[in-house]
Amino acid sequence: MSNLYEQLANELGGLIANRVFAPGDRLPSIRHLAQQKRLSVSTVLQALRLMEDRGLVEARPQAGYYVRHRPRMMAVMNDAPQLQEPAFVGIQNLLMRVLKANEDTALVQMGSSWPLGEMLPMKRMQKTVAAVARRDATLLSAVSCYETNYPEFARQIVRRAIDWGHVDPNEIVVTGSCTEAISLCLRAVAKPGDTIAIESATYFVLLQLIESLGMKALEIPTHPKTGPSIDALELALNASLVQAVLLIPNANNPLGCIMPEANKQRLAALVGKHNVPLIEDDVYGDLCFTPERPWPVKAYDASGNVMLCSSFSKAVSPGARVGYVLAGRYAQEVAVLKMVSSGATSHFFQAVLADFLTGSAYGNQLRKMRRALSQRIARMSDAICAAFPQQCTVSEPQGGFVVWVSLPGQVDALALHERAIAQGVAFMPGQLFSASGKYSNYLRLNCGNAWSPRVEAAIATLGELVHREADRPGVLRSAA
Ligand SMILES: Cc1ncc(COP(=O)(O)O)c(C=O)c1O
Repeated sequence: MSNLYEQLANELGGLIANRVFAPGDRLPSIRHLAQQKRLSVSTVLQALRLMEDRGLVEARPQAGYYVRHRPRMMAVMNDAPQLQEPAFVGIQNLLMRVLKANEDTALVQMGSSWPLGEMLPMKRMQKTVAAVARRDATLLSAVSCYETNYPEFARQIVRRAIDWGHVDPNEIVVTGSCTEAISLCLRAVAKPGDTIAIESATYFVLLQLIESLGMKALEIPTHPKTGPSIDALELALNASLVQAVLLIPNANNPLGCIMPEANKQRLAALVGKHNVPLIEDDVYGDLCFTPERPWPVKAYDASGNVMLCSSFSKAVSPGARVGYVLAGRYAQEVAVLKMVSSGATSHFFQAVLADFLTGSAYGNQLRKMRRALSQRIARMSDAICAAFPQQCTVSEPQGGFVVWVSLPGQVDALALHERAIAQGVAFMPGQLFSASGKYSNYLRLNCGNAWSPRVEAAIATLGELVHREADRPGVLRSAA
């Protein structure tokens, strides 16, 4: 005879198996279950924890227990820390072609990793913009030639960083975006022909930046759950193969993985020991689904070699164009490059963001957005598992917007992209996420769309196309 909590776990498990509770659904609250089943709160909690251990449900902070989608784990990378040759990057033309094809607004948009307007605090921002313009019109009429940072915005950045460490206000350089921050850092610490270590797979704009600056990329093997292999990075650093490291440790795009704290510590110590700069893209740090906001590598940086780049493009306003870098020992070089490349970032929009960050609005926005994103990702992953062939795998992102899907080996994501566009669905083909043309049988999908019959139909269309291509004899090739 099983315990009461086991009986409850089995009963709820049966309801999940019969899809009375579908993936992404919230289970009744602990209090409700305790009352209805005449059980103590601790028995219900034990049952839910057992279901969590069985992989049936997941606890979401302040939201309750949710039915998990059926995960199909990504293949795990080879443990041996092997290194490829550094290579010049050549994705620019292909990227432009894909972006052009994706641009039609009639398509179901699963290509970009931008938040959708409906998720953003637009009403609040409209009010804040009006209030700041009324309060200080000189922010619109004057521009500082020397001072890129608006002091109140910089103060908010220091305050937000208190959770993980101490930021020296002098190391802050406010930029027009996270992308601009990364570009300035690369230019400050490396020159054409130098090699930059990156994750594999990584966000295509990072590859595009490396390409545009005439630098080479060294792809570091990256685990879909724990991020880049620190052993492989150590090999590269020991062999003096790289002049800088550029990573997305919190919710990598496209994998969604978070580097474990121990790896972050080891990485910070390594770049300190070798005196090699680490450019850390933390743009998704505030949008992770973990109970606590994960720390950046910068939190462990004792040498000043870590340059943390971020922005408010993902959670507040992509249109405001405000980002920043905590540039450590390279702050002066970065500040000078910022001034000569684009002058100061709009003080008006820095003041607007400073206002937004002052009260509780940002915290509320993050809570709302994290919850919506993790639910949408669960829903989308479940639909992909149902519609795509059995061999496909789906990442389990711990933050951000996107899922990374592997297709049967013979399916070419670029050819699939052409066919999907013709049927009204946009996504990003895997080839764009590697310097060496890997991932031709992968694709990245944005899960930011609210679930709707249109999105559901788009996933079904993609699934059908993948089935068709996977069943086709011979290898599928794109027309280009
Ligand atoms: C990893 C990563 N970094 C940076 C950005 C762009 O941020 P921003 O608009 O601030 O340049 C994106 C957007 O997709 C991203 O995915």
